[in-house]
Amino acid sequence: MMSILDFKKMRSNNCKISMVTCYDYWSAQIIAKSEVDCILVGDSLSMVIHGHATTIPATVEIMALHVRAVTKGSGDKFVIGDLPFCSYRKGLYAAMQAVEQIMQSGAQAIKLEGVVGNEYLIEHIVNSGIPVMGHIGLTPQSVHQLGGFRVQGKNEKAANILIEQALTLEKLGCFALVIECIPCALAKTITEQLSIPTIGIGAGPHVSGQVLVLHDLLGLQDKPKTKFGKNYLNGHALITKALNDFNTEVKNARFPSNEYSYCY
Ligand code: KIV
Repeated sequence: MMSILDFKKMRSNNCKISMVTCYDYWSAQIIAKSEVDCILVGDSLSMVIHGHATTIPATVEIMALHVRAVTKGSGDKFVIGDLPFCSYRKGLYAAMQAVEQIMQSGAQAIKLEGVVGNEYLIEHIVNSGIPVMGHIGLTPQSVHQLGGFRVQGKNEKAANILIEQALTLEKLGCFALVIECIPCALAKTITEQLSIPTIGIGAGPHVSGQVLVLHDLLGLQDKPKTKFGKNYLNGHALITKALNDFNTEVKNARFPSNEYSYCY
């Protein structure tokens, strides 16, 4: 089983880290047998699985349910669970209850978005023996404050703020950082200034690893692609064909054949 020590080791050895999102038992079983390093049960499940326009509707209970399903199938993979919208902004006690639920559902670490106002909490979680992954750049839980899902850190002032945030998160004890949707050059600068690994999404190649939403990777979504959401499979077309093949065989009474029937 990968541990947070391996994240640091991989970074030191210039070995890129691969992470995918996962929301359920059956895909966790497939990922468990793959060579991908680790799994994020991301609150993107609010959009990908539950069909919402943002990650805001995800709750601690929903996240815990999915973490439980994933960790039943994830085998030796290191699993990080997202703390959802507002769950860590209502005081230390409520935040620790959210952390407790995600960890007791089987995660090995939690991820939370942003820095300002979270400093004491991050330190407290780390000092409670729980690994924390930070997340800066495009932080989807703040989509309305950011004015949409857009590239962050495009001017010097914004870039400097992100560099400062990354350094702060390392100092607070985060074992790794997700950096989302920022220019490649800025991601490179941040990565060079840190000793913990950076895991990019829409942040270019000069980072310590990459995370991709599984449903983008498999091409399962029938919607316009993001710039960075590479499809390694046209899953949507393959699944549609399988469904239509089934339908045709049912309509033509070719399914079930004897092979799929109890013919005594
Ligand atoms: O929720 C999520 O899937 C994420 C990744 C996109 C980093 O936070």
